[in-house]
Amino acid sequence: MTLTEREYMLIENKVLSEFSELIREQRCNDYEGGLKVGVDLGTANIVVAVVDEKNMPVTGATAVSTFVKDGIVVDFVGAMQTVRKLKEQLEERLGRTLEFAATAIPPGIISANVKCISNVVEGAGFEVTNVMDEPTAASKVLDIKDGAVVDVGGGTTGISILKDGKVIFTADEATGGTHMTLVLAGYYGISIVEAEKLKKDITKEDTVFPIIKPVVQKMASIVKRFLDGYEVPAVYVVGGASCFTDFEKVFEKELGIQTIKPNDALLVTPLGIAFEQAAGSM
Ligand SMILES: Nc1ncnc2c1ncn2[C@@H]1O[C@H](COP(=O)(O)OP(=O)(O)OP(=O)(O)O)[C@@H](O)[C@H]1O
Ligand SMILES: [Mg+2]
Repeated sequence: MTLTEREYMLIENKVLSEFSELIREQRCNDYEGGLKVGVDLGTANIVVAVVDEKNMPVTGATAVSTFVKDGIVVDFVGAMQTVRKLKEQLEERLGRTLEFAATAIPPGIISANVKCISNVVEGAGFEVTNVMDEPTAASKVLDIKDGAVVDVGGGTTGISILKDGKVIFTADEATGGTHMTLVLAGYYGISIVEAEKLKKDITKEDTVFPIIKPVVQKMASIVKRFLDGYEVPAVYVVGGASCFTDFEKVFEKELGIQTIKPNDALLVTPLGIAFEQAAGSM
């Protein structure tokens, strides 16, 4: 398959738009067989994704998160209660219990924090089957064999490089949408809450984006450093902070590598975690 055909598939990614609709409309699709669950504990959002054995989205739910900072759980009880609430919502929608789940961590965090994240998911009533790294989860949805996946979240940017379908390098940097918000707050002399709202207001994008563009350039220069020495045919950007229309253009210019952003970039990683819930435990 040529890259152009691939690009088209990504832009038209029906799986992602379907998942997004299921969350928005709070409904579930019919399914046969077992279900797989993915829990993404992010700095900005907690997302629970449910897919069938063929990785078709069945349902999902999301909640605002203030419990995790840069991959570290800062409010264990709050995180646990929120995941439990999402789990119960989904179980009610599905009319069945969800026993198992996979979860994910930004690459490169220490093992004590990995344990903490899986404890949150266990505390919410799931049995954790496996813990994977976030950009690798994303690469499963995008079906990438060669290239780099860059997950620009709220507090962290994770990078995974894949070659022949295998992850050969991962890294994580403490930069993300939160830093864009801080720059906007400083520029306008407004509160962080106001700046966050302004940042996400699509009608203001033309004025907002030039102000946060240096942050995006900085992110790209960090990614460029990590990619140095690897043969990377394309870069795939995902995560909420990549939502700006011109985000991938700035990245592509800085990196000098074709940069592709799928639709519903915010949901790629959570869906990928569900795709990868360990088999045999549905
Ligand atoms: N439409 C939008 N435009 C710009 N930024 C957005 C938009 N929607 C969400 N964001 C930003 O995306 C970030 C959240 O993205 P995401 O849900 O991928 O992060 P997370 O997984 O919670 O965080 P992390 O992966 O860093 O732990 C926030 O900073 C949020 O402000
Ligand atoms: Mg994330």
